Amino acid sequence: MLVSATEMLKKAKAGKYAVGQFNINNLEWTKAVLLTAQELNSPVILGVSEGAGKYMTGFKTVAAMVKAMDESLGITVPVALHLDHGTYEGAKACVEAGFTSIMFDGSHFPLEENIAKSKEIIELCHSKGISVECEVGTIGGEEDGVIGAGEVADPEECKMIADLGVDMLAAGIGNIHGVYPANWAGLNFEALDAIQQKTGIMPLVLHGGTGIPDDMIKKAVTLGVSKINVNTECQLVFAEATRAYIEAGKDQQGKGFDPRKLLAPGTEAIKAKVKEKMELFGSVGQA
Ligand code: 13P
Repeated sequence: MLVSATEMLKKAKAGKYAVGQFNINNLEWTKAVLLTAQELNSPVILGVSEGAGKYMTGFKTVAAMVKAMDESLGITVPVALHLDHGTYEGAKACVEAGFTSIMFDGSHFPLEENIAKSKEIIELCHSKGISVECEVGTIGGEEDGVIGAGEVADPEECKMIADLGVDMLAAGIGNIHGVYPANWAGLNFEALDAIQQKTGIMPLVLHGGTGIPDDMIKKAVTLGVSKINVNTECQLVFAEATRAYIEAGKDQQGKGFDPRKLLAPGTEAIKAKVKEKMELFGSVGQA
């Protein structure tokens, strides 16, 4: 059931668990995430980066595919279709295309500009029942070719953006996208606690979910994180399972080259990873 992320995140914040955002890249990804959410009776957020949107030939294609698949598979758990790290233009395009949730990432703008643009996107989205995520303090690492260093958001700035009426807030707490370097210092829980105290009931978003140790994830959830984004980890297990299939020569046995067979182990690997994360985040049975 396609819905905005507002209610599922309010419930998560109150119930002290987190909803997973799993980024999708194609039909197999989407199917794997939707089926797992349904099987586990968990709410879920499908994340679409601007790059992934382009890859799938545009946001309209993505919205049409997700809407149709949600119906065809008879999905009854709450599903939000969410733009990940949207630009101002991308956010508007996704509103048009029928996304149910939007992240506007103005964290690289000066604060005043981030506030002004966030405000405009929030008004536009809320007039259509679409939930909005904004970001304070750039989250580093590489995403769609953009590389930045991990930052820690200023709690006062977080409060300013939270007060605009945003539905969820992404704040840098030393987290980065992609695989963490060996010398990563870990999450900054003092910063997270300070942000949580300033922003109260606001659901906080933890980006860069790949590779964060389980105990840190659990602690972050107790400190107010209600949405956790995972992308790279699903890509890694998909690639690993596909590689194993080919290295075992299975594509050369019978009709093993059929894409429906070739992509099956990777799809199953995504399902297993999503299940593992939903169990860790505590969203199982919360639909
Ligand atoms: P990872 O690729 O590190 O899991 O990060 C995902 C993310 O934060 C998407 O916004």
